[in-house]
Amino acid sequence: MRTPLIAGNWKLNKTISEANKLATQLVTGLTGVSDREVVIAPIFTALSSVADIVKNSPIQLAGQNCYPEESGAFTGEISPLFLRDAGCQYVIIGHSERRQLLAETDAFIQQKIVKSLAGGLKPILCIGETLEQRENNQMFDVLTQQIKGALKNLTAERIATLVVAYEPVWAIGTGKTASNEQAQEAHAFIRKLLAELFTPDIAETTRILYGGSVKPGNVDELMAEKDIDGALVGGASLNAEDFIRIVRFN
Ligand code: PGA
Repeated sequence: MRTPLIAGNWKLNKTISEANKLATQLVTGLTGVSDREVVIAPIFTALSSVADIVKNSPIQLAGQNCYPEESGAFTGEISPLFLRDAGCQYVIIGHSERRQLLAETDAFIQQKIVKSLAGGLKPILCIGETLEQRENNQMFDVLTQQIKGALKNLTAERIATLVVAYEPVWAIGTGKTASNEQAQEAHAFIRKLLAELFTPDIAETTRILYGGSVKPGNVDELMAEKDIDGALVGGASLNAEDFIRIVRFN
């Protein structure tokens, strides 16, 4: 009953012409896909041209980030309003690269979640522990703190469209994927937490994606796990053939 969702996070890659080319290949390769959702997150400057290309295809668009104000004197920022204007339905929030490189806090991420929902975007909230935290047995505490912080003061009704992405930091871009068991354990924990903090219904309906070195070779087994509802794919989403195969997981 949870529609699987495969999202490609292109990060800071692909010029506009390269992005258009990749989007065109994906549109061709994903014709007829209807039992799963497909989202891609190109760089901001390519959003509007890619939106034209994916129109009338199963592919939806996401922003890679947003600022928690609608418009105004916020040099260099982008808001849910402008992401919607460029054709986005989704927005990635709190990616570990932003938490680490740009010192984004759970409180700031919470504001972005609030404004994204108010602006009609579906947030993909990224959470995940570092290797050090995992080795110190802090994984569950870290996930709890990140979920509680990002969803503070929100109600079950408000977060109905939220997607959570569990991305262990040690698996991102490293080629090291969490084992199915490790991923399933974290996903089940997150679902239980959503039931405790919100409602059993929200826990049942919220999609929890796995992210961290998802590839054509490991997607099928990850997707076979009960609480893994999709994938947030970085590196492998930059190659049409690989991403198409991931979307077409068995
Ligand atoms: P990766 O990135 O697939 O290259 O590990 C995942 C992500 O950062 O979302």
